[in-house]
Amino acid sequence: MNFELTEDQAMVRDMARELAENELLPRARKHDDQGFIDPEVFTLLGEAGMWGLTIPEEYGGSGMSNVVLCLVLEEINRACAATGVTISVHNSLAAATLIKNGTEAQKQAWLPRMATGEVLGAYSLSEAASGSDAAALKATAERVDGGWKLSGTKLWVTTGAQAGLFLVYARTDATVSKAKGITCFLVPADAEGFQIGKSEKKTGLRGSSTTELILDGVFVPDDMVLGEVNRGFHVAMDALDGGRIGIAAQSIGIGRACLEAAVKYAKEREQFGQAIGDFQAVQWKLADMSSRLDSARLMTHYAAWLRDRGEPVGRFSSQAKLLASTACNFAADECLQIHGGAGYTDDFHVERLFRDARITEIYEGATDIQRIVIARSLLA
Ligand code: CAA
Repeated sequence: MNFELTEDQAMVRDMARELAENELLPRARKHDDQGFIDPEVFTLLGEAGMWGLTIPEEYGGSGMSNVVLCLVLEEINRACAATGVTISVHNSLAAATLIKNGTEAQKQAWLPRMATGEVLGAYSLSEAASGSDAAALKATAERVDGGWKLSGTKLWVTTGAQAGLFLVYARTDATVSKAKGITCFLVPADAEGFQIGKSEKKTGLRGSSTTELILDGVFVPDDMVLGEVNRGFHVAMDALDGGRIGIAAQSIGIGRACLEAAVKYAKEREQFGQAIGDFQAVQWKLADMSSRLDSARLMTHYAAWLRDRGEPVGRFSSQAKLLASTACNFAADECLQIHGGAGYTDDFHVERLFRDARITEIYEGATDIQRIVIARSLLA
């Protein structure tokens, strides 16, 4: 067993760390306050190769592994989680799903533009009445001459405001059991009848856009079906197997920021004539934060490594997300507690970390859903 990073892995991680420190950390509060990521950040991320990280070199990306994506996501999310989720969804839910399921023509048409960031990717599965019960989705795709006509309203679409290509899941057969009649469609943002609806005002990750999508009879030609007709639920679930590893890495990044802030404050803040880090009660908090985050990181890298080898990863990506998101929220809570009243104000960025952390236990499958996936795999 070798835990050492290769020279290339360490180099990309260090590059991401520098980018995050210099360009994202100074903007994180601004992104949170203004409710969007500075437009120039998208260009900077493109120049740094962030949009094409896992896209194969033949399509203009750098062909990095999921392990490297995890290393990068941890660094980016440590600085700005709104930017982090945008990179994660683009790479692991949109581009990776197209790479795995797309025809050669679909890959040629979209991946080179996705690799530069000219086209950002989004993933649209959820609806008002289908969140955890994803297969209950109601958006329809009606067969028409040469393709399909999509109707309905989708919800919770990350990067909705900026994305150029959406992976939209809709029902193509209402006569079969719910998971069997779903298809995945590639829908460009400029398709006729396609409209971005309301933007959500969120507790955290305020810089990242989360929108509704309105499908008003959107025509999608046959060559924009991703994978097989009526096999879209499998595409969606497999995509989430990868996406959840990205959110686990995000959780570790946010959690690490909490741990670092807590250690710094514990050394600086004095009460009862000594640094609060000298109190065992505070030391135990720091020890538990560190232990939980480090073990979640090992699980996350293991899941990413398995995914890179093409092995079934559902249980392990769910374990990674479960461990990492709960470790992240534990770290955020303890970090705020260590900061006391000061942490509850915006004088310190820990209140933003606390808010950003919360969603990691909800999106890309709530914690309870991860437990279902893990338990079903054990009992199968
Ligand atoms: N890979 C491939 N296929 C899979 C699979 C996987 N990981 N998991 C299940 N399937 C297949 C099954 O084999 C089954 O196939 P057959 O019908 O051919 O037998 C089919 O999918 C249905 O499987 P289930 O019976 O297990 O489906 P279910 O209805 O019980 O749902 C679930 C299972 C795990 C609860 C699922 O609904 C789920 O993951 N829910 C959470 C959804 C979610 O994570 N949403 C997040 C959306 S994205 C987001 O958050 C926003 C963002 O952009 C960041």
